[in-house]
Amino acid sequence: MSKLKVGVIISSTRATRFGEIPAKWILEKANERAEIEAEIVDLRDFDLPFFDEAASNAWMPSQSANAVKWQNKISEFDAYIFVTAEYNRAITGALKNALDQAYVNWNKKAFGAVGYGTVGGARAIENLRTIGIELQMASTRSAVHIAGADFMAVHPAFGGTKSLNEIEASIGNSAKDMLDQLIWWGNAAKAAREEEAISVAAE
Ligand SMILES: Cc1cc2nc3c(=O)[nH]c(=O)nc-3n(C[C@H](O)[C@H](O)[C@H](O)COP(=O)(O)O)c2cc1C
Repeated sequence: MSKLKVGVIISSTRATRFGEIPAKWILEKANERAEIEAEIVDLRDFDLPFFDEAASNAWMPSQSANAVKWQNKISEFDAYIFVTAEYNRAITGALKNALDQAYVNWNKKAFGAVGYGTVGGARAIENLRTIGIELQMASTRSAVHIAGADFMAVHPAFGGTKSLNEIEASIGNSAKDMLDQLIWWGNAAKAAREEEAISVAAE
């Protein structure tokens, strides 16, 4: 089977965000896997408006050119890793809006997550998993949680000076488990989508 194409999506867009540090770390880990070809997808590059369509693209094409560009980018991938901040115990508004701006492009695909915050972004990741159900996505069981003292130690705004490689004793195993599961679910969903496309074409 060809490599699983994985989009590593950074959930925050603010100028002083921490998000790209864990994004680059998990990108490297993902690309160490022979089964994966991963790239970073940065919401900053898409300048998405707040959702203002008559309906989601499950029902009609979107009018916003930037939304269509975003949907086309999402369609390139078989699976996703959301690198998610926790804003007031949920995912960021920017990520929620980006999730809402596509529908069919997420369907029947797998995702994993890297969360960070006081409790490792656990509440944001659970929020993401609930949203994923509606988007017809399959979540991995495992996720990476950069939490507590580790979070402080790697976050420059809190005086942290460590790299993520230096806290791998805490987060390395969960990254391995998340990627193992992403490969399994990602390939299973990819095979099923390909089989479905063949039977639809034969009808
Ligand atoms: C609006 C806002 C809400 C936040 N809410 C939470 C929260 O609920 N839980 C948490 O652990 N951290 C929270 N934080 C702290 C973030 O974990 C921290 O600022 C982190 O760096 C945000 O990710 P970012 O730098 O990629 O934007 C919040 C930060 C902001 C700006």
